[in-house]
Amino acid sequence: MKERAVFTTKFGALATTVGSAVGLGNIWRFPYEAGVHGGGAFLLCYMLFVFLIGVPVLCAEFAMGRGTRSNVFGAYSKLAPRQKWQFTGYIGIVASLLILSFYSVVAGWTVEYCISSAFGQLSFGDMAGGHGQFTSLTTGWRPILWTVIFLFCNTFILLGGVTKGIERASNILMPMLFLLLIAFCINSMTLPGFGEGVRFLFHPDFSKITPSVLLGALGQAFFSLSLGLGCMMTYASYFSDTNRLGRTAAVGAVLDSSVAVLSGIIIFPAVFSFGLSPQAGPTLVFEVLPYIFSQLPGGMVWSTLFFLLLFLASLTSTVSMSEISITFFCEEKRMSRRNATLLSSAISLCGGVLCALSFGPLSGFTIGGLTIFNLFDYLSSNICLPIGGMVCSFFVGWMIDKKFLRDQFTDYGRYRFVLLPLLTFSLKWICPAAIFLIFLNSIGLL
Ligand code: PFF
Repeated sequence: MKERAVFTTKFGALATTVGSAVGLGNIWRFPYEAGVHGGGAFLLCYMLFVFLIGVPVLCAEFAMGRGTRSNVFGAYSKLAPRQKWQFTGYIGIVASLLILSFYSVVAGWTVEYCISSAFGQLSFGDMAGGHGQFTSLTTGWRPILWTVIFLFCNTFILLGGVTKGIERASNILMPMLFLLLIAFCINSMTLPGFGEGVRFLFHPDFSKITPSVLLGALGQAFFSLSLGLGCMMTYASYFSDTNRLGRTAAVGAVLDSSVAVLSGIIIFPAVFSFGLSPQAGPTLVFEVLPYIFSQLPGGMVWSTLFFLLLFLASLTSTVSMSEISITFFCEEKRMSRRNATLLSSAISLCGGVLCALSFGPLSGFTIGGLTIFNLFDYLSSNICLPIGGMVCSFFVGWMIDKKFLRDQFTDYGRYRFVLLPLLTFSLKWICPAAIFLIFLNSIGLL
């Protein structure tokens, strides 16, 4: 069998981790979830979950991935050969394909916005037009085309392989995106609604913390950190032996959540300045951003650049999602990397078409009150990811030898990792219990 790839540098490992974590989840999903769930209350819960639950689970995934150098299914099988833990691997693989389906649709919108903006067809500053413009760009059959184009780009990078395609792209794109977001934040301070927007985002109204806010924030923390389906496990299987897992996890989580907060600082002042509603849902960011660009001299250039970077950030995330099923097909089903990539792309294309149509011809088709797009999002983000994270933390906390975790976090005793007892405690008790309680709470059993 071919030797497994290894990310060549530590920066590359961090950049790919951040590349996976930072994407539409931060810039598109976080603002709309925060908008729907009361702003500050949601941000507070989200932050708590990122650091109390997300970081330990991220560490657990890192340890399992690097320690076994396997895909998600193989990692559980290697660590617990005679037990039935592998089902978590299946949850991860199915969830990754569900996410890939709806994510590619939104990423397709970014491609359409980028191209429309570059050709001067995106109208800015038309107060009544944001919604109309979004609707005309994204309903009907057109989004299918953009979804296909996006998935084509994704497949192209994946066929380039791990280090060449993924690592190189992330090294350049992530720092650029960060700088652009900071520039937009500075612009946001000049908007009349800055105070109101910032208050909405940072002032928690505790009465708004309901079971659905808690579950939403937990799902968002997992979604944003690419946790619970084995994505980070798969990436860690490419980390070099000398990578310090604790540090990569902490830096990754800080960078990832700062991008979410920066996006909130960009979006909410604009929402209030232009008299829009923060509760618009999945369309929020796409309706608000054109207004923001209209405030900037050379708005067309900014807008094209922004959507280009957003498209590229989405690509670094979808590449990581696709890796979950691709490594599974290659390593467990003995497929060639090329065929595995094509199979994963074909499945997500079918899902993507259904999701794309759920804003147009299939908008009336709902299951449990949710369109196909929202259903895929809800099932994967709010159900599969937290369950995957709960099982992973329980598994590492209780089922495998303590020495395994110690070896991974101290590089076989070469350095100290003072937070190890805290990490072990958290994986044993806090993470599984907290996730379980939030679930019970959200289905009304608590
Ligand atoms: N973390 C990505 C984002 O915030 O856009 C989304 C994601 C990537 C979710 C990879 C899950 C995953 F496996």
